[in-house]
Amino acid sequence: MNAVRKTLVTGGAGFIGSAVIRHLIDSQDDHVANLDALTYAGNLDSLAAVSSSPRYHFYQVDLADVSALRHVVAEFQPDAVMHLAAESHVDRSIDGPASFIQTNIVGTYNLLEVCRAYWAGLPTGKKASFRFHHISTDEVYGDLHGTTELFTESTAYAPSSPYSASKASSDHLVRAWQRTYGLPVLITNCSNNYGPFHFPEKLIPHVILNALHGKPIPVYGDGLQVRDWLYVEDHARALCRVLDSGEVGETYNIGGHNEKRNIEVVEAICALLEELAPHKPADVSFYRDLICFVKDRPGHDVRYAIDASKIQRELGWQPLETFDSGIRKTVSWYLSNREWWQRVLSGDYRLDRLGGCGDQLEDGGKL
Ligand SMILES: NC(=O)c1ccc[n+]([C@@H]2O[C@H](COP(=O)([O-])OP(=O)(O)OC[C@H]3O[C@@H](n4cnc5c(N)ncnc54)[C@H](O)[C@@H]3O)[C@@H](O)[C@H]2O)c1
Repeated sequence: MNAVRKTLVTGGAGFIGSAVIRHLIDSQDDHVANLDALTYAGNLDSLAAVSSSPRYHFYQVDLADVSALRHVVAEFQPDAVMHLAAESHVDRSIDGPASFIQTNIVGTYNLLEVCRAYWAGLPTGKKASFRFHHISTDEVYGDLHGTTELFTESTAYAPSSPYSASKASSDHLVRAWQRTYGLPVLITNCSNNYGPFHFPEKLIPHVILNALHGKPIPVYGDGLQVRDWLYVEDHARALCRVLDSGEVGETYNIGGHNEKRNIEVVEAICALLEELAPHKPADVSFYRDLICFVKDRPGHDVRYAIDASKIQRELGWQPLETFDSGIRKTVSWYLSNREWWQRVLSGDYRLDRLGGCGDQLEDGGKL
C-alpha cells in the first residue's frame, strides 16, 4: 500500500462510510477527504473520533453538483475514490424512488465522469495506480428461494426494489466506464451490515431502541426472510483490502457467513437485552413480548446469501466477528452510547447544518 495515499470517500458520514474513514485514519496512513451531502442519513457525530486528525478533510457536497465535484477532485487530487454515497433504505425507495434514481444512478454517473476527466490528465504512474472503488450490495442479485444456493460474482442481476435496481444500474455504469474508457475500477457487493453508528431506521438498531423504549417491535410478514449479516468493521477492512490489493475490473462479493432469519435476529437482540439491560420500561415483562407481526413489504426478498470465497482465496480477507460476537458488541454499543442515538432521535444531529431546525425521526420504520 502507498503510505501517503489520498483517498476520497463519498458518503463518509453514513453508517459504512464512517466505519471506513475511522479505519483509514486509525489503522492506516491515508489522507482522507469525506465528500457527503449530509442527507438525513449523514451524521458527523459518527466521525467525532477522527475529525480532528490533520489527515481528515470534509466537503459538504451533493453528487448532483458537478462543478463542486470537479472542485473537490481538483483540490484534493485523490489517488483513490471509494464511492459509498447513496440512498440506502429499501422502504424509502418504495415510498419515493426519485431520490434513489438521482443519487444512486445520476450521482454515480456524475462522479464517474468527473473522475474520468481527472484520471485522464494524471501523469502515467499515478494514472496506472488510480482506483475507483464502487461499493454496492448483494441486493442487485435479487433473492434466493432454496436454502443452499449462494450469490457468486457471476450470478445474474435481478433486482427487486427501486433501491436495488438503482444500485444495479450504478454497478453497470461503473463496469461500462472500465470497459469503454479504461477507468481502473473495483466493485464490491456486500451483504447486510450491522454494528455501531447504524441509523435507527434500520432493522437491528430499530429493534434495540424500540425495546429499550417499551415500544412494539414490528416484524414484516412471518419474519422468515433470511439475511446474511456482516459486522460493519469487517466490511470496512474488506473494502480497504480490496482497494489495496484487488485486481482492476474485478468484482468481489463480501459476506459474513451468518445467515439468519429476521425473527432469529430480533429474538437474539431481545435475549441480549434481558441480560445487558434488565431494568425494563414499565409494563414490559420480557422484551420479546413486544414483537408483533405486520403486513409484509411489497416485493420483499426471501433470502440473500453470499459466497465470499473469492475475496478470501484471492485477497486473504475473512470476517473477524461471528454473528454472536458482533451482535453482542452492537447491543452493548447502543447501551453505552445513548447520546449518539438520542441526538438522532431528537433531530439534534442535524442542527449544525440546518441552522437549528433538525427534524425528529418519524417512528414509521418497520423491520
Ligand atoms: N447498509 C448495508 O447493509 C449495505 C450493504 C451493502 C452495501 N451497502 C452500500 O454501501 C453504501 C453505504 O451504505 P450505508 O448503509 O452506509 O448508507 P447510509 O444511508 O448510512 O449513508 C449514505 C451516506 O451518503 C450520503 N449521501 C446520500 N445522498 C448523497 C448525495 N446525493 N451526495 C452526497 N452524499 C450523499 C448521506 O448523507 C450518507 O452520509 C451504499 O452505497 C449502500 O448501497 C450498504
